[in-house]
Amino acid sequence: MSGTTGIGLIGCGLMGRIHAWELSQHADKDGVPIVPVAACDPSTDARQKMAETWDFASLNEGADAVLEDPEVDAVWICTPTFTHRDLVAAALASGKHVYCEKPLAPTFATVRELQDLAAESGLVCQVGFESRWQAIPRFIRLLLDSGELGSVMGYVQRSDEVFPETSFNPNVSEWRASVEQTGGGALIEHSIHEVDLLCWMFGPATHVAAATRSVLGREVEDTAALTITHESGVVGTLMTIWNRMEGRDENRFEIFSENGTVEATWGGVVLDAPQNGIRVHRGDGKAAPDSPLITADYLAARGLHKPFFWARVADAAFLQAVRSGSESPCGFDAGLAAHAVVEAAYRSAATGETVAVADVHTT
Ligand SMILES: NC(=O)c1ccc[n+]([C@@H]2O[C@H](COP(=O)([O-])OP(=O)(O)OC[C@H]3O[C@@H](n4cnc5c(N)ncnc54)[C@H](O)[C@@H]3O)[C@@H](O)[C@H]2O)c1
Repeated sequence: MSGTTGIGLIGCGLMGRIHAWELSQHADKDGVPIVPVAACDPSTDARQKMAETWDFASLNEGADAVLEDPEVDAVWICTPTFTHRDLVAAALASGKHVYCEKPLAPTFATVRELQDLAAESGLVCQVGFESRWQAIPRFIRLLLDSGELGSVMGYVQRSDEVFPETSFNPNVSEWRASVEQTGGGALIEHSIHEVDLLCWMFGPATHVAAATRSVLGREVEDTAALTITHESGVVGTLMTIWNRMEGRDENRFEIFSENGTVEATWGGVVLDAPQNGIRVHRGDGKAAPDSPLITADYLAARGLHKPFFWARVADAAFLQAVRSGSESPCGFDAGLAAHAVVEAAYRSAATGETVAVADVHTT
């Protein structure tokens, strides 16, 4: 690769602008040789907002202008989920490295197709999972990997936020309430992040039993409860909720191991919520926390106090893979693994049976 990496961006909505902003910070502050070449969105308003975010050399209505630009090396796909398939396929056919927002696609069959295309292309592909890049989950992963707490026995993970549709929150979009356009609700559209986190932390999942509900009357589920068994033997539960509580956005994660417990709370948007932090109890009879409480102050002191900081870290990992010619640490294979668990959960909710993840891959 030449001295610079040309950036293309498709979709100038919420996520497109978050990535553009974080990339602009890399370019300006970290001296990373990246160039904003071309972006697109059919919406004039979205293009205007992008113009205020980062100075792309061209802002276009359609994706062809981005994909046909020889100066573009890597493309961020930040459009509604149902559009990802065609855009990813076209980007790979144009020889561009691809960062695609999650979920990769509304159906598992399409996700499998995209993973096959990615593997055949030899290009760097990354999926926009957020949780594994956040400071608190990374701290927990390091702690578990150290072996200090012994074998993990089980976990409880809960994630809740306001239903991300305009009628509940003016800052988001209508397409999120359509099964056809998203594949589902709180589980696939939001907590696929947590599913990825759980597989990244505890290894591949083998079985899922789940129930889903739609309490708010949308066609996608707003409530899902999963029991997940991992190949490692670890078992745990995931509860995901889209409610009516604007301004609230919280993850609560508790891990139980033979020599200790970990309790953590964090928000993607409300980073400075007073309840955010992590507490580790070790099995020596002392109840007091003996690990630093990670709060907004703690993160700010390290330059990490900023909503959406995870996107900067995720983008940096992708750029590093592109520039070094190595695989992304969060490739489409991770997307396939998380989508398989989500698909197993939907099948379980529909049948009332526990579903083997291996069966999802073969049927
Ligand atoms: N990683 C995360 O934490 C996170 C958070 C929110 C959304 N997402 C995902 O990001 C993707 C985009 O979500 P969003 O919140 O930015 O949506 P959004 O509705 O705010 O923005 C989508 C934009 O894409 C544009 N668009 C639609 N079709 C297009 C096309 N063919 N070519 C170019 N532009 C097109 C729309 O005009 C719109 O401006 C979705 O897959 C969503 O699930 C990820």
